[in-house]
Amino acid sequence: MEQLTVHAPSQTYDILIGRNIIEKLGNELFERHIAEPERPVAILTSPRIGGFYYDAVRLSLEKSGVLEVGRFNIPDGEDHKNLQQFDKALNWLSRFAANPSRTPLVITLGGGVVGDLGGFVAHTFKRGVPFLQVTTTLLGAVDCSVGGKVAANLPAGKNLVGAFHQPSLVLADMDCLNTLPDAEVKSGMAEVIKYGAILDKDLFEFLEANIDKLMDLDDEALAPVVRRCCELKALVVKQDEYDKKGVRISLNFGHTVGHAIENVCKYSLSHGECVSIGMVAAARLSHKLGFCHSSVPTRLQSLLEAAGLPVECCARNLETDQVLEVMKTDKKWIRGKNRFVLLTNLGAWKEAEGIDENTIEDIVYEVVEG
Ligand SMILES: NC(=O)c1ccc[n+]([C@@H]2O[C@H](COP(=O)([O-])OP(=O)(O)OC[C@H]3O[C@@H](n4cnc5c(N)ncnc54)[C@H](O)[C@@H]3O)[C@@H](O)[C@H]2O)c1
Ligand SMILES: [Zn+2]
Repeated sequence: MEQLTVHAPSQTYDILIGRNIIEKLGNELFERHIAEPERPVAILTSPRIGGFYYDAVRLSLEKSGVLEVGRFNIPDGEDHKNLQQFDKALNWLSRFAANPSRTPLVITLGGGVVGDLGGFVAHTFKRGVPFLQVTTTLLGAVDCSVGGKVAANLPAGKNLVGAFHQPSLVLADMDCLNTLPDAEVKSGMAEVIKYGAILDKDLFEFLEANIDKLMDLDDEALAPVVRRCCELKALVVKQDEYDKKGVRISLNFGHTVGHAIENVCKYSLSHGECVSIGMVAAARLSHKLGFCHSSVPTRLQSLLEAAGLPVECCARNLETDQVLEVMKTDKKWIRGKNRFVLLTNLGAWKEAEGIDENTIEDIVYEVVEG
């Protein structure tokens, strides 16, 4: 089992990564004094994910002495990360944990949707109760497990309402990935590759050498990679827990063009697929501006392709102009001035702003319509 301690200024917690971790969940919670027999444990999950793993989680808790375990289902899918489900979950929790002398422990069992919405429920119920995340997606393990962001979507946009609430413990059980659809594995792998590309050349080279094993979910290769990604994100987040100083900007590599494509294709490509295309665009831009050698975009593109990710939009009939228009609403662009996270090498980045618009347009055209 791989273990990592995250030192967020407001809370220190561990991330446990490996196989058969759900089985150990109950004991880990008692050893860490997070659970007590009398403390009710509320598991927020989804019908699909709970169908696979709820019984194992409940059994592990009951075996170690928890007396009361309950389940609430948030329907599967991003569309349900909303305030209606938030309201339902809170009302269920208030009934489940009705005894005022027993603060419940919330467990989110799922990917980013359940983790974000369930974490937000834990943050607001009685002004905050402890929660732990059992992540069941690769993205959940490498991205949502660090940073403490919890949220719901509004009709006007994703994650428009939320808070910071650090978990007491995170468990990333690699066995859960066996039931995860391939498309979700690929989507998570795009973010894994992102960490290597911006922050860690050794990780990038390990990914190049082991991409087939990783896509086959070989846990000897995957668990240390997940651990390293969490460690890299934790190092960034530690400097800026509340995302106020702009330090987290590096994590947006590939997301400027990526988010715009996601929006224009109306989510017909997954987040990871869009980020993959966005990273190729950003790497090509980095080379075109003379910041890095031509091997940087070439190697990044090869690795993404080896992971089965797209590097261009390919015959989706998207228009460059639409993508450019949406890019102008990117949160990094200040007063209309463009800002990009670009590569100076594999594992090294810099921020650049005010880049010539024709240069951007040429690169976006290449990946959108080329
Ligand atoms: N909090 C953060 O820092 C952070 C970071 C990145 C993304 N996010 C959020 O995460 C969300 C995306 O997360 P995600 O990619 O994990 O998506 P998700 O939670 O929607 O899960 C993807 C799909 O896989 C299914 N699924 C999950 N685990 C499974 C398993 N083990 N077996 C079978 N099916 C399974 C789900 O039911 C769902 O249909 C977005 O809402 C995004 O905003 C949050
Ligand atoms: Zn992302």
